[in-house]
Amino acid sequence: LNNGLVLTPPMGWLAWERFRCNIDCENDPENCISERLFMTMAKRIAEDGFKEAGYEYIIIDDCWMTTKRDKDRRLQSDPERFPHGIKYIADYVHSLGLKMGIYQDIGTKTCIGYPGSEGFEKIDVDTFAEWEVDYLKLDGCFKDSALFDRDYPMVGKHLNNTGRKIVYSCSWPAYQVEKKMMVNWTGIRENCNLWRNYGDIQDSYESITDIIQWYAINQDMLIPIAGPGAWNDPDMLIIGNYGLSLVQAKSQMALWAIMAAPLMMSNDLRNLRPEFKEILLNRDIIEVDQDAMGIQGRQILSAMRGFGIEVWRRPVLPVKDVGNETWASFAVVVWNRRVDGTPFYFPQRLGFYGLTHANGYYVKELFTKKDYGLMKADDELPLYVEPSGGVVMFKATLAVADGSVDALRKRK
Ligand code: GLA
Repeated sequence: LNNGLVLTPPMGWLAWERFRCNIDCENDPENCISERLFMTMAKRIAEDGFKEAGYEYIIIDDCWMTTKRDKDRRLQSDPERFPHGIKYIADYVHSLGLKMGIYQDIGTKTCIGYPGSEGFEKIDVDTFAEWEVDYLKLDGCFKDSALFDRDYPMVGKHLNNTGRKIVYSCSWPAYQVEKKMMVNWTGIRENCNLWRNYGDIQDSYESITDIIQWYAINQDMLIPIAGPGAWNDPDMLIIGNYGLSLVQAKSQMALWAIMAAPLMMSNDLRNLRPEFKEILLNRDIIEVDQDAMGIQGRQILSAMRGFGIEVWRRPVLPVKDVGNETWASFAVVVWNRRVDGTPFYFPQRLGFYGLTHANGYYVKELFTKKDYGLMKADDELPLYVEPSGGVVMFKATLAVADGSVDALRKRK
């Protein structure tokens, strides 16, 4: 969506995967969906280095409302759990230099069963604008998905009419893909800033591999529609929770960055182990995710053909035009899905990854920071990739680059 927002993938924190619909503030006041939870997380983002790294949006998910609209048919936040209302949280979030997001559903109910927007689209959008919300996640439960092609753009018009700059996150394709319907990808990228394509992430390595597989299988359809202001959304980062080992957490970070994915953490920032925090704050990898060209990366070797080793790459700046050709720098991820217990030796010439410019590339690993210096297509990169979901991620910076980006932008 060309509204000037999210020219690079949005980054922030989203409640759902970690905190779900916990509304039991009596027994679990620290973890229930409440004003306190969002203000605490906003403070952690602002004070623990996340804001400096680019994390910006604090997003409320489902279960913030009362079960009934008010007498003016407006949505209301639960008065016990949100005693000062949403605007109060938004003010606090803004005072920290961050941005505020909220959740609603385009159908008759949210996925959990709170009041949906159907029939109240304009009232709801105006309410969010009044509360100074900066981001709307609009889900697609409890509605005929065939009507999405009409109604997601309609809500988008209402958002635009508020005059407030609001990032528009749609679940439009997710439900249509699930039901194997035709998907109007062009319409989606023209009307939404980001969109969920596939099922919900859960707290497990199986879940992230399943999502990545779906993105790989569908990459020829998904890559062309992504770009500045318009992003495929493989769902939240679950790094720092219960389900991923340290190596698997690295693989989620690396592959999300290769896929130009939104980086929305859903974790408990009050109790984040330092090794997970370090992954989430890896500046080199965030820089790949946030590359200004916004070209989504692709799988170039599948685990099936690679005997358990999978390779992904993404063109990034700097690039160089030579005649009518454009040579890019690349971020590369080698992902080890084998479970045979020992780091896998993977020696490949740079040319194997398609890095063939005669002047060569400066190659550096982004987790270990191991620097290989200038390498040419025939030089061998002797990688060891840890098993059970380990990755090596490296950046190959084109040696002749002068920073020109025009040619690759024109392609879009
Ligand atoms: C759907 C969405 C999730 C979350 C829940 C809330 O399942 O895909 O991300 O928002 O609804 O009920």
